[in-house]
Amino acid sequence: MISDDLIMEIKSKINIEDMISKYTILKRDGKNNKCICLFHSEKTPSMVIYSDTQSFYCFGCAVGGDVFSFIMKVENLGYIESIKYLCEIGGISFDISDKDNQEIETKNIIRKINIDTAKFFYQNLKSEYGKKARNYLFNRGFSINIIKKYGIGYALDSWSSLLDYLKLKKYKIFDMYQAGVVSKSQKGSYYDQFRDRIIFPIIDIRGNIIAFGGRVLDDTKPKYLNSSDTIIFKKSKNLFSMNFAKKHIDKTVVLVEGYVDAISLYQHGFKNVVATLGTSLTSEQSRLISRYSKKVIIGYDSDKAGQIAGIKASNLLSEVGLDVNMINLKDCKDPDEYIKKYGPDRFSVIINDSQNITDFEISKLKKSIDMDTNQGVSNYIKQVIVLLSKIKNEIERDVYVLRISRDTNISKDIITSQVNKVIKSNIFKKKKHQYRKLTNLSRFNTDNFIRGNEHFLREIKAEQGIIAFILKNSNNLNDVLSNITIDDFILAIDKKIFSSICDLSAKGGNMDFSLLSKNFSEKEKEYFSSILVKFDIISNKKEEIYDYIDILVRYKQRMTKEDIINMDPDKLRDFYINLKEKSI
Ligand code: GTP
Ligand code: MN
Repeated sequence: MISDDLIMEIKSKINIEDMISKYTILKRDGKNNKCICLFHSEKTPSMVIYSDTQSFYCFGCAVGGDVFSFIMKVENLGYIESIKYLCEIGGISFDISDKDNQEIETKNIIRKINIDTAKFFYQNLKSEYGKKARNYLFNRGFSINIIKKYGIGYALDSWSSLLDYLKLKKYKIFDMYQAGVVSKSQKGSYYDQFRDRIIFPIIDIRGNIIAFGGRVLDDTKPKYLNSSDTIIFKKSKNLFSMNFAKKHIDKTVVLVEGYVDAISLYQHGFKNVVATLGTSLTSEQSRLISRYSKKVIIGYDSDKAGQIAGIKASNLLSEVGLDVNMINLKDCKDPDEYIKKYGPDRFSVIINDSQNITDFEISKLKKSIDMDTNQGVSNYIKQVIVLLSKIKNEIERDVYVLRISRDTNISKDIITSQVNKVIKSNIFKKKKHQYRKLTNLSRFNTDNFIRGNEHFLREIKAEQGIIAFILKNSNNLNDVLSNITIDDFILAIDKKIFSSICDLSAKGGNMDFSLLSKNFSEKEKEYFSSILVKFDIISNKKEEIYDYIDILVRYKQRMTKEDIINMDPDKLRDFYINLKEKSI
């Protein structure tokens, strides 16, 4: 359906370096570029962008592909959608109507259902049936303006009011179900997912309503019910209120746990606030924040669970290079309670007083330990040493060492040497861990394609080399192509790539990665890009390629033990003579 011409037009107008540099900073590395991977958390770049093949590959997490794969992954789009997206950027006309494309069309319908659902809930809140919900919201201090701003609504106490409404609007039940606003019973009947709940629409950074969160009006359990993941909603990749916050982030963002905390802070003027969607912060969410902000102020609930979650979140956020501070909510359980009790001015004060993670943990430690006893001090110092070992900046670390030394009368040298010991062992552990993770991850893809053929690694290397060579020397292929056939290849995936090469070559097309992998799955594309990476510095000498071809052809001629046993005597004699000649 997508023509090769369209793919080539996009690629001639948009290069992968420009696209990736919209999301992160590229560093030149020889003839290629590298950057911090956008698909796993890291501080040193392991994603490489190959200029000549216009492909990318991450050595850390084995994600790779072409510019289309990149856009699909980073923007969470399907293949056709990524083409449409890049056409818009490149000013290229894209004349496939959404109706002709199942993937785009379903997503469009789900978005429309979500809009109509949100409108319905909002109308309910304003109607006579919404009185109880309105009172609940007013009692909790929500203003009319903020209700409008967030599109807060009310789901009626009914099993089918939304379903009936959407039916009237001519939506199919299955689409409502796919949107997650309607559930299915075991017997197979459909009913409203949200009943008698305050509804908070969840909106993505582009302004689409992608899901809903619903809160009960009393103490019924569960307190909150959130949409499950759908084809347009991935809980782990979105943050509540990010659509508003992104316009107000001035280097810092406030991160809270609850919908209500976020809305309440926004209403009181702290508009750079986002909330996780009821689960612990994910690394994808951390990376989303890092696209907009340099610093995060964590305002999680003050109970034990909130504090533990806060420290975990802080670790994830520092991993993507963000500065992190923790708010001390004093006697209040969450930011919503604090701002209502003490007002926005004092909330500003606790934001300004918010401490970096080290100070925060040291203060907490001091409170929990009796510093008047020797045992207490020794306990304290042991734990502080662990905290200080996590500080990356040497000068900053030294400042703390000095302070702790004064505090405890323990010599600075002893503390420093202890801290250094822990750092050394941490680095070792971390490296070991990273190494394991990297080798596991990056092998994962290729392993799946190689499974069952582990005995032929030499031949596999040869066929991969041939493929890489073909891609890089696409102008004089006739020689190479006339010397091998698809049957010479061992791995099914390599056969698939080679067959694609032959087809394209017959059409007279350019050996372009995107064209060749047009009908591949993303996993297959990742494998394909990993080959190009492995042979990035393949020479363009024909001799080398003939060595590879030789390996493959010889493999084909190789006999198994059984073949030899079953051979008729004449053939066996020839085979033997042949073998003898070769070995001389
Ligand atoms: P209020 O109690 O109305 O002030 O809401 P809150 O946002 O302060 O809630 P709380 O601190 O109890 O929980 C924080 C967040 O966790 C909520 O906003 C929800 O997203 C999520 N959450 C809380 N309870 C539940 C639950 O029972 N189920 C699910 N799925 N999520 C919950
Ligand atoms: Mn609360």
